[in-house]
Amino acid sequence: MRFSKRSDFLVSSPLYAFSKKVKEMEGRGVEVFSLGLGEPFYDTPEAIKKAGIEAIEKNQTHYNPAAGSMKLRQALAEKYQAEAANVAVSSGAKPILGAVFWSLLNEGDQVFLAAPFYPPFLQIIQSCGGQTILIDTKPSGFKMTVESLRSAFENSYQENPDFAGQKYLLVNSPNNPTGTVYDKNELKKIVEFCRENKITVISDECYNQFSAEKGFTLRGFSQDVIVINSLSKSHAMTGWRIGFVIAPKELVGVIEKFLENYLGCPCSISDAAALVALQTPALPDLTKQRQVIHAWLEKMQIPFASSEGGIFIFPDFADFMRSKKLKTSTELATYFLEKVQVATTPGISFGENYDTHLRLSYCLQGEKLREVLQKLEKAF
Ligand SMILES: Cc1ncc(COP(=O)(O)O)c(C=O)c1O
Repeated sequence: MRFSKRSDFLVSSPLYAFSKKVKEMEGRGVEVFSLGLGEPFYDTPEAIKKAGIEAIEKNQTHYNPAAGSMKLRQALAEKYQAEAANVAVSSGAKPILGAVFWSLLNEGDQVFLAAPFYPPFLQIIQSCGGQTILIDTKPSGFKMTVESLRSAFENSYQENPDFAGQKYLLVNSPNNPTGTVYDKNELKKIVEFCRENKITVISDECYNQFSAEKGFTLRGFSQDVIVINSLSKSHAMTGWRIGFVIAPKELVGVIEKFLENYLGCPCSISDAAALVALQTPALPDLTKQRQVIHAWLEKMQIPFASSEGGIFIFPDFADFMRSKKLKTSTELATYFLEKVQVATTPGISFGENYDTHLRLSYCLQGEKLREVLQKLEKAF
C-alpha cells in the first residue's frame, strides 16, 4: 500500500509513545504516579454533567449543524462580543486547529511558532502544506518577544526574498509545555507588528482560565485575531470534546465546509452541556501548585523558568543527566519511571532543542503533588 505524502508529516510524537509505555506499566499492575497528564485533576462540575444527562433524556441526540448548534454559537459569540457567524464549534480544539490550518494554508505559506511547542501544532501545519518557522525561546526564558519575532521575520525574507505566500503567527499563552504567560504589553506589540507586516495571528488560548489574568484573550486587541479555545481544560471536559474558533466570518464559512465534509457536528449531548458550562465558573487557577513545584525545583537546584499559567512547567535537567550519564530526555523520563514510578513527558516531544528538559504537569491536588515530588526526589 502507498500512503499520501501529507501523512508522512504525522509522526507519532514521543509524547504519545512515552504515554503508551506508562499505560503498559499500569496494565502490568504497577502503580504509576503521574506528572505527565495533560488535564486538570478535577471532574466535570455537576451542573454540566446533569445537562448532558438531560440532553439524552430529551432526545437531543440527533445531528446538529456541523459548526455546532446555533444556541451554542450565539452564547460563545456573546462572550467574545462577536456574532454567531464568527463562531464555529467542533469536537475539541484539536480538530479546530486542523480546520483552521486546512482552510488557510497553501503550499509553502509560513507559520511563525515559538519553540518549545505543543506537538500537534507542527504536524498539523506541515501536513496542511505550511512551513513552520521556529523561534527558539529558551534564551529568553521561554518568551517570544517582538524583537525575536522581527528577527525571524527578517531572516525569512533574507532566505527567501521572492516569497509571495501568506504569513501567520501562532501564539499559545499560557503555554504548553512551558507555563509561560506573555506580558499583555508585549502581546499588544506583537499584534501590532503582525498587523503592520500582514501576518495573520492565530491564538490558542486553551489554558487562558489558568493564570492571574483569567480569561484574557488576544481578540481584545484586534478582531482579526483568530482565537481557538475549548472547554476541555477550563471546565474539566476533556472527554466531552468541545472546542471552538472565533474568526472573521469568511474564514468561518470555509471552516464550516471543512467540518460538514470531514467531521460533522460536535456530539449533540456535549453541545447541550457546553451551554451550561458557559454559565458555570471555570476551574480555579493552580497558584498553590505552582508555588509547590517552584519551591521543590529551587530546593533541588534544577534550573527552570517559572510557570505563571496553564498546568505545566519545563525544567532543565542537564546537570542531573550528566551525573547519571543519561543522554536523552526519553532516557531521563524512563529512568524516573523505572526507578520511582513517576511519569513525566520527555522534552524532545516539544522540539529538538529541548532534549535535557522534562514537561511536568502540576495539575494534581496539593498533597498529591507533594507526595509525587517526594517520590521523584528519591531518584536523585
Ligand atoms: C495548547 C493546546 N491546544 C489544544 C489542545 C487540544 O485540546 P482539546 O482537548 O480541546 O482538543 C491542547 C491539549 O492538550 C493544548 O495543550
